[in-house]
Amino acid sequence: MTTTDRVVIVGAGLGGLYAALSLAPRPVLVISPETLGEGASSAWAQGGVAAAMGAGDSAEAHASDTIAAGAGTVDAKIAALVTQAARGHIHNLTAQGMPFDRDAAGEYTLNHEAAHSRPRVVRVKGDQAGRKIMETLIAAVRAAPSVQVMERVVAQGLLVEGGRVCGVELAQIDGEGISRSVALRAPAVLLAGGGSGGLYALTTNPPRIRGQVMGLAARAGAVMADMEFVQFHPTAMDVGLDPAPLATEALRGEGARLVNADGVFFMEAEHPRADLAPRDIVARAVFAQTQAGKRPMLDTRAALGAAIHDRFPAVSAACRKAGIDPAHAPIPVAAAAHYHMGGVATDAAGRASLPGLWVCGEAASTGLHGANRLASNGVLEALVFAQRAAQDMAAELPAGGDRAAPVTLAFAPGGVGLDMRAVAKLRQVMTAHVGVRRTGTGLAQALTEIDALEAAHTDCADFANMCATARLIATAALLRRESRGAHWRDDFPLTDPDLAQRSTLTLAEARLFPLETA
Ligand code: SIN
Repeated sequence: MTTTDRVVIVGAGLGGLYAALSLAPRPVLVISPETLGEGASSAWAQGGVAAAMGAGDSAEAHASDTIAAGAGTVDAKIAALVTQAARGHIHNLTAQGMPFDRDAAGEYTLNHEAAHSRPRVVRVKGDQAGRKIMETLIAAVRAAPSVQVMERVVAQGLLVEGGRVCGVELAQIDGEGISRSVALRAPAVLLAGGGSGGLYALTTNPPRIRGQVMGLAARAGAVMADMEFVQFHPTAMDVGLDPAPLATEALRGEGARLVNADGVFFMEAEHPRADLAPRDIVARAVFAQTQAGKRPMLDTRAALGAAIHDRFPAVSAACRKAGIDPAHAPIPVAAAAHYHMGGVATDAAGRASLPGLWVCGEAASTGLHGANRLASNGVLEALVFAQRAAQDMAAELPAGGDRAAPVTLAFAPGGVGLDMRAVAKLRQVMTAHVGVRRTGTGLAQALTEIDALEAAHTDCADFANMCATARLIATAALLRRESRGAHWRDDFPLTDPDLAQRSTLTLAEARLFPLETA
């Protein structure tokens, strides 16, 4: 057992790095499963940061769109708090050197994404916002003497004593293998380790983001919230790649349209806002087209032509890799797991139910997103709650930890790594039964299969964490006997006004759920 005075931050995406900088000069240890900058969902965020920066826009209008998209379960106080903080964070990032797009008058150039009532997404060169924010934060972290980064290390569990989180269990990734875990005691832990998209066979998330961080909090006893609400992005490129590259919603904001193999612009019949309808509605329409064998595609030709290559470089590069020229042919698309509205339940300061534990970013469920996240609110929420959690930790922790020595850990070989066949099976189960459209029978089947997979791999902590998250999603989906936002039940297709509340669930409760009552 090693002890440190450093705050331990699990995850090195936008939330983790922003929190590390916000805590300076208090020493922190950032745990990164990859080389810093690689493998974080944040770097793949194409749209940008939602913020009311445009003339005539307001935080109130932004909050109102957030609440409307969230389908009845957004916490209005959190929506107000986050949207009001947005402008300050854009200015802060700009001061740190973020090259946000500006017009000739110096005003921020804004993307228009689905369910926003106006263009409101602050961007960098079309689709480069996530990548550039990460580059900016990484440069700042590398220059910050208070931040120690441990790369190629993963958190596998939390240390809990007397109900309080007092550290983490860490293991080192070593080539294809993994070390035995070591315990590190710390005054506070911030989880900022991303969502659960990679629990699904079709996802836009980086390969290592498979619900592990939510799962380790759940296994320690943290209360989880809104676990049933998984957002599927309607325009993941369906080109046989895992993960599926994203074709940003901003393309539809520029006039790109969804079309099927028969040449039908199918969103017109689905919603008054057609291609810019709320994301859950577009995702289900795309899924239905795929299921019907109609081959949905995103046609950017009339809207952007060859300009797509310059204006949306990430999309252009992904198309090139898949052998498609979007200036001449539409891009095949499918609905893919993209963002988890649920996660570890937190309060407005980012505190989890377990003392000593804070959570920010996609791993958290703050109440901002409700049943369906408004586009580009994810990056904004990560910024706002990383800072709020940092401030709250600084207020709670005793002063005087600013001389903490760098942490060194002795990792011994011989840990139990993931069985990738079991991971593949779990992902298939989630996509088949816990995906865009769900039924009670399918969800119960998923839980039976998760039981079997978990029982066959009890020695691998990473897999136990994944199974915990998968179980919580499937159980929460089974318990919500209605359709709302991103959660669709074929056997309960209506939205029940009496169920317009957030859900909470612990892993112990999920384990006790009697399947025969499903
Ligand atoms: C997109 O650019 O389409 C994704 C943005 C987001 O998920 O917030």
